[in-house]
Amino acid sequence: MENLMEKIISLAKQRGFVYKSSEIYGGAYSFYDYGPLGVELKNNIKKQWWKNVVYQRQDVVGLDSSILSPRIVWEASGHLQGFADLLVECKQCHHRFKEDELNKNQCPDCAGDLTSPKQFNLLMKTNLGVVKDKQEEYYLRGETCQGIYLNYLNVKDSLRKKLPFGIAQIGKAFRNEITPKNFIFRTREFEQMEMQYFVNPDEANKHYDEWKQVTMDWYKQYIVNSENLRWREHTKNELAHYAKQAWDIEYKTPFGGWKEFAGVHNRGDWDLSRHQEYSQIKMEYRDEVTNQKFTPWVVEVSIGVDRAFLMFLLDAYDEVDGGRTTTTKSIKAKEVVLRLDKRLAPIKAGILPLAKKPELIKIANQIYDELSRQWMCEYDQTGSIGKRYRRQDEIGTPYSITIDFDTIKDKQVTIRDRDTMKQERILINALPDYIREGIRD
Ligand code: GAP
Repeated sequence: MENLMEKIISLAKQRGFVYKSSEIYGGAYSFYDYGPLGVELKNNIKKQWWKNVVYQRQDVVGLDSSILSPRIVWEASGHLQGFADLLVECKQCHHRFKEDELNKNQCPDCAGDLTSPKQFNLLMKTNLGVVKDKQEEYYLRGETCQGIYLNYLNVKDSLRKKLPFGIAQIGKAFRNEITPKNFIFRTREFEQMEMQYFVNPDEANKHYDEWKQVTMDWYKQYIVNSENLRWREHTKNELAHYAKQAWDIEYKTPFGGWKEFAGVHNRGDWDLSRHQEYSQIKMEYRDEVTNQKFTPWVVEVSIGVDRAFLMFLLDAYDEVDGGRTTTTKSIKAKEVVLRLDKRLAPIKAGILPLAKKPELIKIANQIYDELSRQWMCEYDQTGSIGKRYRRQDEIGTPYSITIDFDTIKDKQVTIRDRDTMKQERILINALPDYIREGIRD
C-alpha cells in the first residue's frame, strides 16, 4: 500500500496511539509517548508474550530489575568496550551517520566528504550522589537482560530451580543511537521483552532451535500477512560481542524492506563467566544427576516491544471501499479497518446507544459497567451509527454493541463483528460469553 508508514503515523496521532514526546515544545527528537489507545495495545502485546513465555511454561519465571546499575556491571558485560557503532561525520554539513548504513563514502545529505569512522559507545551515563567529587557513575541499561544475569543466583536459589530454566523480563532500555529514525522503529528509549534460558552447554543447540520456533510461532499468531516475516542469520562480523550465534526475525517494512524486529541469540557462557570474574561470586552449576560441573550457557530471546507494536499496526492496516457501513453507502472515500488480532485490540467493545434517550443511555451504561470489569470498552453516543462503526473499525475494535428501542422490551442488543460485519441479536446477559469466545484471550 502506498504511503503506508505516513498513514500509520497519522492514524497513530489522530486516534491516540502515539504522540511525539514534548510536542508543545517542538518535540523531542526520537522520543515518543504512547496515548490512551497506544498504552492498551502495548500492554496487550506484553501481556500476550508474558502469558506465552512465563504463565504457560513451568520452566520460566519473571523478574523486574532496576534500570540503572553501576559502571562495573557494564564493564563486566563488555558493553563499555564493545557496545559501539562506527560513526562518520560529514565535513561540510556535520550530519552524523552510522557507517554501516551508507552505500557510498559520501554524505547522503549534501554529498560532502566524510571523516574516518570513529567508535561511538551507545550506553547512556549518569552520575549519582549529592557530593560532586564523590559521585558514582551509573548507566541506564542498554539491554534488559543484564539484570537477569545479576539475579541468576537469587532466582535459582530462592525458587529452587534446576537447569534448564529461564527468566523473563519486560522493561525499558536506552541507547544513544547515532541515527534514530523511522518513527518508533529506532529510538533512544525503547522497551524490550527478553527471556534468558540457562542451559547445560551440551544442550544449547537443542534449546536454541526450540526458542527460535517458539518466538516465530508467537509472532505468527497475531499477524495476517505472515509472508512478511523471515529469519536471517548474522554473519561472523555482525555478531555482537557476546554472541556465538544470532538469528534475527525480520519483517518486510515499507521503509527500506526487511528489518530486524527480534533476535534469538546463543550467548554461550559469556555473561555469567564475566560477572563471575568481576564479582568474584561463583556462577558454576553442578548437575545433581551426572555430577557434571559447568558455567551455564544462555539462549536469549530479545524482542523490541515498540517494533512489535509497529509491526502489528503495519500488518493490520487495511482500507476498504466506502459504504461498508449501512448509513455511509453514499460516501465514496476509503474506510480504514485495523484488523488487529482481537487479543491485541486496544478496545474490545464499543458500546453505542442508538439515540440520546435516557432509557437507552441507562442500559448502555449498565452494559459498559459489566463488560469493563474484564475488558477495555468505549462508550460512544455521538454521530450516526454508521460513523460510530467506522470510528471503531479504524481503531480495530472487534465488537460494536448497539442498544436500540427494542432492547428496552426484549433485553437484546445488536453485536457487530469488525471483520465479517455480521450483525447478531443476542441477549445482554450473553454478551460476556460471546465476547470471551470471540477473543479467545
Ligand atoms: N539483549 C540482546 C539485545 O539487546 P539487540 O539485537 O541489540 O539484542 C534486541 O536488541 C531487540 O531490541 C531488537 O531486535 C529490537 O527489536 C530492539 N531494539 C534494539 N535497539 C532498538 C532501538 N534503538 N529502538 C527500538 N528498538 C530497539
